[in-house]
Amino acid sequence: MSKGLQYYANGIVYGQKSGMTIDIESALTTTAQALQSVSDSPRLDAELLLVSVLDEPRSHLFAHPDEALSTEDAVRLSALVQRRLNHEPIAYLTGEKEFWSLPLMVSTATLVPRPETELLVAATLALIPRDASMAVLDLGTGSGAIAIAISSERPLCRIVATDLSSPALTIAAANAERHELTNITFLQGDWLEPVADRTFDLVVSNPPYVAENDAAMNLLRCEPRIALVAGEDGLDAIRRIAADAGKNLLGGGALLVEHGADQEEAVAQVLADEGWDNIQCLPDLSNLPRVTCALWKPNEEGQEPVGLRTHLLRQQATNRLWIK
Ligand SMILES: C[S@@+](CC[C@H](N)C(=O)[O-])C[C@H]1O[C@@H](n2cnc3c(N)ncnc32)[C@H](O)[C@@H]1O
Repeated sequence: MSKGLQYYANGIVYGQKSGMTIDIESALTTTAQALQSVSDSPRLDAELLLVSVLDEPRSHLFAHPDEALSTEDAVRLSALVQRRLNHEPIAYLTGEKEFWSLPLMVSTATLVPRPETELLVAATLALIPRDASMAVLDLGTGSGAIAIAISSERPLCRIVATDLSSPALTIAAANAERHELTNITFLQGDWLEPVADRTFDLVVSNPPYVAENDAAMNLLRCEPRIALVAGEDGLDAIRRIAADAGKNLLGGGALLVEHGADQEEAVAQVLADEGWDNIQCLPDLSNLPRVTCALWKPNEEGQEPVGLRTHLLRQQATNRLWIK
């Protein structure tokens, strides 16, 4: 037990039994100290945990720093701190994570949506004119983060979101309902298998892309392995998607896939081998190559039914790919 935790436990849990109380500000300070060893943002973690325990908005913490915690709340906070010290992500402890400014429920069946994935959303939105009713497929939807973000910005689109994990889909559907989004259909199955007979204008995915023996898995042990690991080199899921997604795309349609910062060249090769063209990798805000976009061949008549390719090329020409 760390020194910080000892102080925390003595100050809150046992201290209250002997008649001591702790106020909000002291609880935050003590909790942040206890979490220093496991978090880059211990104060923020402390605030999020306390807000979740109190079931109050974050502003309550700043408006009422002197308010005393009840014994029950102090004990619940202490239990969450213990779990955080065991490296559980804050989002699993609070049951929620914000993505694209939308609060989303998460569980241990879903990946915790990452800020990096918002770049995949931004790149996708750049390809969908505001008034377009394109058909969009989100493969491996998890909590529904990508599909829900796109749906919230492009309500005229028809979105299908798939996942192999039924528990993840239950969470995703609940998130869509929570945000009153009715243009997403959730389907369970192995990558494109549930949509074998459908065509789309855009396919997007943040698939698992961590290599089996990657040391990073030690830090990610609370999240579902199926959401993270994709074979020996981390590319198995991207290979499956690259091989199959073209069959479901209207000619000229686009695939956007997130991947590791060190996978740019390998992903481009996989896509080229499967016949994709106009392959380009988009940098994130740290200038790391994280999202690759590729176009499927125009259909046999050479028509591009949704004008997506034209739209994309125009966006590229004016260097506006990242603008919503
Ligand atoms: C990296 S997570 C992405 C989750 C979510 N889209 C996000 O960005 O937060 C990958 C997702 O792919 C799903 N998945 C893994 N293997 C799959 C498969 N064979 N078919 C469909 N989905 C799969 C996992 O269950 C997980 O939800």
